[in-house]
Amino acid sequence: FNASSRDSATIECMKIFSGSSNKPLAEKIAKELHLSLSPLEIHVFPDKEKRIQVQERVVDEDCIIVESTAPPANENYMELFFIVDALKRSGAKTVTVVVPYLGYQRQDHVFRSGEAVSLEVVATTLEAVGMDKLITVDLHSIKIPEVFHVPIAHLSALPLFAQKIKELHIQSKAVLVSPDMGGIRRIKLLSEMLADMPYAAIEKERNLQSGVVTANVIHGDIGQTAFIVDDMISSGKTIETAAKLLQEKGATTIYVFASHPVFSEEAKEILEKTAVEKVFVTDTIDVPEKKHFPKLE
Ligand code: R5P
Repeated sequence: FNASSRDSATIECMKIFSGSSNKPLAEKIAKELHLSLSPLEIHVFPDKEKRIQVQERVVDEDCIIVESTAPPANENYMELFFIVDALKRSGAKTVTVVVPYLGYQRQDHVFRSGEAVSLEVVATTLEAVGMDKLITVDLHSIKIPEVFHVPIAHLSALPLFAQKIKELHIQSKAVLVSPDMGGIRRIKLLSEMLADMPYAAIEKERNLQSGVVTANVIHGDIGQTAFIVDDMISSGKTIETAAKLLQEKGATTIYVFASHPVFSEEAKEILEKTAVEKVFVTDTIDVPEKKHFPKLE
């Protein structure tokens, strides 16, 4: 979204709309493009159904919608479907959907027989209502783009994390840690950005019924400082379990980096109680004031 590197005529014919989930980010993106958000009425009926109206001419225009499908994911997805539909019906040439955090991405296959593949359902619906392109950030798995049939730009916060880690000027032996084996690719990429900083990965188990997270094994050596890096923090249990294990293995200073602050349930309380120094997240999800805590940056 670097406006200076884009053709200004292209940007002038572009319209940008915001859903209700992450207006601060939509405003920042619009500002970067030297645009204002285009008017969109999102009316909520007493029964919580929504009525969407595009309040600007969009015929033959390239339109962008910013909507994070974070909690409440169901509501935000429905709102997004209606905005895409409203734009297409109003004559938009293209609709690019910016979903900084893509909800339901963890349900990308059948884990236990009889389950729905929720990600496929939302992808099919977005395409059915007219999404032409998707821009998203740090997907849970590199296989997720295969679910979509439209072009996808998959952005990453890893360069920002690398920069922040450098700025911390850690003098002791430091190691990057993936809190589960699924995050190993992410941690290797970050290690490359940090002159091959050593990395380790934790073997994590989550009971699909109870949600209880356990971890006893770490692959790799642990130094005094550990940087846990994950795609998202939801309940906070993964970070809690990883931090405990790292302390047991000798880490004295632990930082957490996560792209998506989903922060459901008791995440704030759980994270505050852990031994971690700081939790760094991005603004793919707008974290409400009541979920802020001193360690959060
Ligand atoms: C799981 O594979 C993800 O990468 C995250 O570790 C997980 O979704 C975090 O969830 P929670 O905070 O609920 O443990």
